[in-house]
Amino acid sequence: MDKVRVAVIGAGSISESHLNSYQNNPEAEIVAICDLNGERAKAAAQKYGAQKTYTDYHELLADPEVDAVSICTWNNQHAEISIAAAKAGKHVLVEKPLCRTVEEALQIQEAAHAGGKVFQVGYVRRFDPNVAVLQSFMESGEIGELYYAKASLLRRVGNPGGWFADKERSGGGPLIDIGVHAIDLCWYMMGKPKVKSVSGNVYHKLGNRSHVKNYSFYKAADYDASKNTVEDMANALIRFENGASLLVDVSFSLHAKQDEAAIKLFGTNGGFEIDPALVIVTEKNDTILNIEPQVDHKGFNFAAAFQNEINHFIENIKNGTEPIATVDDGVEMMKILNGIYESSEKGVEIQL
Ligand SMILES: NC(=O)c1ccc[n+]([C@@H]2O[C@H](COP(=O)([O-])OP(=O)(O)OC[C@H]3O[C@@H](n4cnc5c(N)ncnc54)[C@H](O)[C@@H]3O)[C@@H](O)[C@H]2O)c1
Repeated sequence: MDKVRVAVIGAGSISESHLNSYQNNPEAEIVAICDLNGERAKAAAQKYGAQKTYTDYHELLADPEVDAVSICTWNNQHAEISIAAAKAGKHVLVEKPLCRTVEEALQIQEAAHAGGKVFQVGYVRRFDPNVAVLQSFMESGEIGELYYAKASLLRRVGNPGGWFADKERSGGGPLIDIGVHAIDLCWYMMGKPKVKSVSGNVYHKLGNRSHVKNYSFYKAADYDASKNTVEDMANALIRFENGASLLVDVSFSLHAKQDEAAIKLFGTNGGFEIDPALVIVTEKNDTILNIEPQVDHKGFNFAAAFQNEINHFIENIKNGTEPIATVDDGVEMMKILNGIYESSEKGVEIQL
């Protein structure tokens, strides 16, 4: 097979990471870019040498010279475009979250399975080089059975505004935007145990804190702070059928002393932290050891993870292999996320 001819739909902030990684992959060729904003699509096409631009994704999907697409649009477009792409016989890499609701997720799953092409979900944290380091320790039995995980991704002021802050287009706030990364990474490293129940709390107390001065934060391509219908913060306890549990909290706005990224997993033989920096904790000769693996990046290596994710997508297309981040994983995640919102709304634990 010749080079995989790829197109990117949605040319905003994250598309750069997809495009850079495709550009670095000798088996991929960037052929087209689509964005509702034609100028943005043209600018990206010029930068990355794509011959064609579109403002209507239907036209792009009808192009027989496109083999595969990265979907980097607002979350409310993920389901519609994923389904249309799968039906058009394209290989799909869709950004996280898979979509907004379980109903959408099930429709995508049906189309992806019927389409029979590669369908990968953008759980980029799974592709961090430090995950592979930890997996090698897990495989050699150093960690044992993981039974507890604790993840915090707390931003004091970090509502990206624009569509991120519009529930209709995003599906929710920090829970669906960054909680999805934290929960997925823990769930994946725990071996994807079946989820039993979720109990969550979702708060709308502080708004987007756009009045705060002298403090920079991530902003959507079309930043606009005037509308905010998403939660400020969420927390949850997720129970698994094997008895393991995961405690998570995430925020866009919070009166915290500092931003926090902390992802820790605990097993029967040892534990580890992957955020903010790689540490393995174990015991030898009746003594506790904190081990600091000597690696190039102690924290999340965003560029390397993206490159690995894109390389994996291209490899799956070329070899006809199944991605490690499947549409079925995407469906499970939407059940967890929607379950947390439902639990908070009803004030009860939700059985999945
Ligand atoms: N993996 C990660 O770490 C990561 C980080 C940031 C964002 N994301 C995800 O990437 C997606 C995009 O986020 P972003 O930060 O790039 O947002 P953004 O607002 O910067 O860019 C989104 C772009 O999509 C375009 N768009 C929307 N609907 C479209 C449609 N139907 N057809 C063509 N173009 C359309 C918009 O015009 C905009 O240019 C989201 O799903 C987000 O959750 C993932």
